[in-house]
Amino acid sequence: MRIDVISIFPEYLAALDLSLIGKARRDGLLQLQVHDLRGWTTDRHRTVDDTPTGGGAGMVMKPEPWAQALADVAGAADGLPGGAAADGARRPVLIVPSPAGEVFTQATAYELAGEEHLVFACGRYEGIDERVLEWAAEQYTVRPMSLGDYVLNGGEVAVLAMVEAVGRLVPGVVGNPESLVEESHSDGLLEYPVYTKPALWRDRAVPEVLLSGNHAAIARWRRDEQLRRTARRRPDLLERLDPAVLDKGDRAVLAALGWSVGVDGLRPGPGAGLGAGNEAVAE
Ligand code: ADE
Repeated sequence: MRIDVISIFPEYLAALDLSLIGKARRDGLLQLQVHDLRGWTTDRHRTVDDTPTGGGAGMVMKPEPWAQALADVAGAADGLPGGAAADGARRPVLIVPSPAGEVFTQATAYELAGEEHLVFACGRYEGIDERVLEWAAEQYTVRPMSLGDYVLNGGEVAVLAMVEAVGRLVPGVVGNPESLVEESHSDGLLEYPVYTKPALWRDRAVPEVLLSGNHAAIARWRRDEQLRRTARRRPDLLERLDPAVLDKGDRAVLAALGWSVGVDGLRPGPGAGLGAGNEAVAE
């Protein structure tokens, strides 16, 4: 997979040289390049921003450097649309981190991991002139993406998170692909709690079942914990779960937690949130 990141703070992205993503770059699994947007400015001051048309606070990123940068990284240096896409190749995906974007989830990460070329455009200040995104849609699939409902100072931190979430799903990047299967969000539920040795630590014992060697009982316990934890911390995820994925044991745990399971989905009953087995534990 090829990834280009364009930013006025390329040093921010130095962390992408570390750990698994850094290794994937060195191994050639990810061709990741970070570019300085100011390299596409033409004036003495290397200006990338200007005042907002119509007034208001802050500054807006100018269209010219962005258009030139996006044309170059898409392989259409003349700025004309269609460069990379014209010969039948898959369109690159342009991801624009923004609190006004669609929310980036694990499902988005899986979707993007199947792409050939991702380009991340890190905005700063009040954002990028909207016409850049309209223009770029002629050669890119444009996806404004938000990490969540809060505001960062720019897109760089969001790109670090998204590149890591996507990159680790690219085959070969994570040594043991099994570890991707049983993790939070991979099946619509949060991950179960994990423990290691010693079995007794500061008067706290690991749950007995995990020492039993009974694999079926361990799997059941873990699944129950996933359901309990998700009900307690993220009931919104349970409400979005397809009831077809629930077995008899799941339904029994959910009923004990005060949830009703119908053909059209899961609904919290009046007891859900506080009732039996759903104690509000601070973790
Ligand atoms: N840039 C500023 N805030 C952001 C957010 N919440 N997600 C992605 N990019 C951002």
